[in-house]
Amino acid sequence: MSDPAAIRAHYGLDGLVETELPATPVELFALWFTQALAAAEAGLLHEPNAMVVSTVDTAGRPSSRTVLLKGFDERGFVFFTNYESRKARELAENPNIALLFPWHPMARQVIVTGTARRVAREETVAYFRTRPHGSQLGAWASAQSSVIATRDELDRGYADLEARYPEGEQVPAPPHWGGFRVEPQSVEFWQGRANRLHDRLRYVPAERDGWTVERLSP
Ligand SMILES: Cc1cc2nc3c(=O)[nH]c(=O)nc-3n(C[C@H](O)[C@H](O)[C@H](O)COP(=O)(O)O)c2cc1C
Repeated sequence: MSDPAAIRAHYGLDGLVETELPATPVELFALWFTQALAAAEAGLLHEPNAMVVSTVDTAGRPSSRTVLLKGFDERGFVFFTNYESRKARELAENPNIALLFPWHPMARQVIVTGTARRVAREETVAYFRTRPHGSQLGAWASAQSSVIATRDELDRGYADLEARYPEGEQVPAPPHWGGFRVEPQSVEFWQGRANRLHDRLRYVPAERDGWTVERLSP
């Protein structure tokens, strides 16, 4: 049981067929995301909007972490974070980014590569207002990615904020917190199939405009 090499999932799901694909990756993503939400409803998948976000530092060293997708449309994929965090500092120097959606129970994976830019301040403020009060305070309380001495330091900071902004009180969006929108340059859809002959279809920009799809060997 402890040997990962002995684990073999048998994939026999519907394949991806070029002739049945939507014109844009966002349309196919929307379809797969709806199916991921349904799988989550059915208890098969946790956090369908969780994605692994990878960035690189100035020396080209990569780092990855999980972040929640909070919106997507033709303009790109949006997540929110601390603008002074490691990821945000790296993106300020190098906007190249990769997103990976690990929908393992569905034998699916989506990988987006692209560039990340900060969203407009109004978009951040509008989203911040929808967050639960505790999460709003948490965004203020945490200097994300910095080293802290003790857990107590964090809890005390939170308690001070709670005293200043009791439940029901409007909490302003922290200036050091906000969204990034990832404009896709490529989007690969991976569907597990039998005998490891998986489908991998990648949308890349077409020569003029729009998208073209290429099939990759699994
Ligand atoms: C399921 C899950 C969801 C998360 N969602 C977010 C998020 O939406 N935004 C965020 O800044 N961090 C989120 N985190 C925390 C990040 O993984 C990470 O610890 C944090 O952003 C600091 O990353 P950095 O130091 O590499 O910048 C999430 C972690 C997990 C496990």
